[in-house]
Amino acid sequence: MRVLVIGSGAREHALLLALSKDPKVSKLLVAPGNAGTAKLAEQHPVDVASGAAVTELARKVEADLVVIGPEVPLVLGVADALREAGIATFGPSAAAARIEGSKAFAKDVMAVAGVRTAHSEIVDSPAKLDAALDRFGPNWVVKDDGLAAGKGVVVTTDRLVARDHAAELLETGHPVLLESFLDGPEVSLFCLVDGETVMPLLPAQDHKRVGDGDTGPNTGGMGAYTPLPWLPQAVVDQIVTEVVEPVAAEMVKRGCPFSGLLYAGLAIGVDGPAVVEFNCRFGDPETQAILELLDSPLGEALKATATGTLASLAPVQWKDGAAVTVVLAAENYPGRPRTGDAITGAGGLGVFHAGTASHEGKVVSAGGRVLSVVGSGADLAAARADAYSKIESIRLPGSHFRTDIGLAALEGRISL
Ligand code: GLY
Repeated sequence: MRVLVIGSGAREHALLLALSKDPKVSKLLVAPGNAGTAKLAEQHPVDVASGAAVTELARKVEADLVVIGPEVPLVLGVADALREAGIATFGPSAAAARIEGSKAFAKDVMAVAGVRTAHSEIVDSPAKLDAALDRFGPNWVVKDDGLAAGKGVVVTTDRLVARDHAAELLETGHPVLLESFLDGPEVSLFCLVDGETVMPLLPAQDHKRVGDGDTGPNTGGMGAYTPLPWLPQAVVDQIVTEVVEPVAAEMVKRGCPFSGLLYAGLAIGVDGPAVVEFNCRFGDPETQAILELLDSPLGEALKATATGTLASLAPVQWKDGAAVTVVLAAENYPGRPRTGDAITGAGGLGVFHAGTASHEGKVVSAGGRVLSVVGSGADLAAARADAYSKIESIRLPGSHFRTDIGLAALEGRISL
């Protein structure tokens, strides 16, 4: 099987590594890729937002399966263009990708499916903002209604900070979603979904704030660990039956069945799981840790999802132990990152490239989240030690990373 992966992040690098271990995968291609993916796959330039360009490339390279990593091409209908051309594609249609692309759509699906989520209001004009803010608090959650790579979210107890963020979004023409604050530890549960068939992967936890102890602004994700020692399997089962399956069924009912990876981001509160957000693709940086523990052929699972045969796939198997991703970010991230610096010591196993480029034979930084470093071990302590010993040997001027990925779980500070 010839597999073409679309995207250029650490998530796509990790998908390529896992696909390279599947004996049925004979050839790997990536478009556009990054400085790290070149070792695993033939690289091709492409405009990932163009269905016509991706379809032409998939035909040219004779791909048997196209795996779309990021949300932007999915929301823009790249999977639809590929399917219309008869090419097996892992990733939802534009209509189904609205579960991530439009928070208002996701809220409506959840309301009809009876899925618990935060109370919310859309604000579409500055004139309505103050009255709406008064209906929320003392914790304000302010989101961009469209795609914002995690950085469109502000969670704050300061009304002024909430107001400024909302006003800024409205000024740039983006409707704003105000939400009630959901209390409880967060879980990312990724599920392969093919219509009404749902197959969960291992639960993981992201660390979205930039600083240790969950301080500073939100980012695309600074690190993750899996599995979650504090989360009973019964709660995972409950998320599948009370959240993911009803949403998948509602999408089938609406004529926009979901096919691909449905990412449920949840807070586990005293009343049980409640949805913080849905995403229409593998999450980053959780994927890098989850795939480290995968013990089944990934190509086969993605192909089964893409071709509507997930129901007949044997449940995916996992290695024992734990895995941890730590993200190395460029100076000033999540603000405008410093780029163009040489990176050294990043050639080892478990180092996945994101914001990197090749320049005059050297690997240089080219984005905010530069590398994901994955460690694994018999337990969370060993996996953390492995990840941090790897990241300590990497040099990038001005870079930073969180030192507490998985630490609260390890120290027993997370409980339900
Ligand atoms: N882990 C956050 C995201 O993928 O959006």
